[in-house]
Amino acid sequence: MNIILLGPPGAGKGTQAAYIVKKINVPQISTGNILREAVANKTEYGLKAQEYMNRGDLVTDEIVIGIIRDRIQESDCQNGYILDGFPRNKEQSIALDSMLQEFGHSIDRVFDFRVSEENLLKRLLGRLNCSNTSCGAGYHEEFKKPKVKGKCDACGSDLFRRADDNKETILNRNKVYEETAGPIRDHYSEILIAIDSDKEISEINATLDKHL
Ligand code: AP5
Repeated sequence: MNIILLGPPGAGKGTQAAYIVKKINVPQISTGNILREAVANKTEYGLKAQEYMNRGDLVTDEIVIGIIRDRIQESDCQNGYILDGFPRNKEQSIALDSMLQEFGHSIDRVFDFRVSEENLLKRLLGRLNCSNTSCGAGYHEEFKKPKVKGKCDACGSDLFRRADDNKETILNRNKVYEETAGPIRDHYSEILIAIDSDKEISEINATLDKHL
């Protein structure tokens, strides 16, 4: 099963992707995570992406389309994948269509997570992430507390706050999302499933269960 997760920053795409991975055993492909790793490793495209990410703007289509093209051809994607944060504009959805056609894939579900600006700010300003990239578990200082302060429950690594989780960048990320979301929703209107992401994590899990 191939799935796309749409939604503004803090809508819970990463949180619900982790749930779906466990449920149907296909990999999560997060362009944001791949880009952050490239930034940390100071690769050529990481260095190019960094300034866009710090501002909360979209990285160039050429970079992210290349990332997805390579990643969906890997062997662990044979039975499907979850695209978390891609496509992000009309051009990326058109590029995805041609990749899918070329590789004989198709998209089965598009979950469109919707959340209020008040909630997305609360969520991102309190978000904590595992620093171990092969773990990558997500926490929240109020809504999903780690058992030991500052440490990941799953692997014990230190937790950190993302550089783009500050109010100014969050608001710009949300503005960019609002400007680009409409055409993507139109593109997938026939298979789009709207999810009320203001609800609690477990309630959203249960809604997804009905559609998987
Ligand atoms: P990316 O990493 O994709 O970030 P984002 O879209 O801004 O989304 P987030 O990861 O911030 O939020 P999320 O929806 O995953 O929320 P989460 O589950 O963590 O992109 C970052 C940057 O990379 C972009 O700005 C851009 O520069 C670049 N980029 C990435 N993809 C690109 C592309 N395709 N094209 C161009 N540029 C691209 O949840 C947030 C917090 O809330 C957590 O603490 C969680 O525990 C908590 N939480 C989750 N759900 C709930 C709930 N229901 N109730 C209470 N708390 C909750």
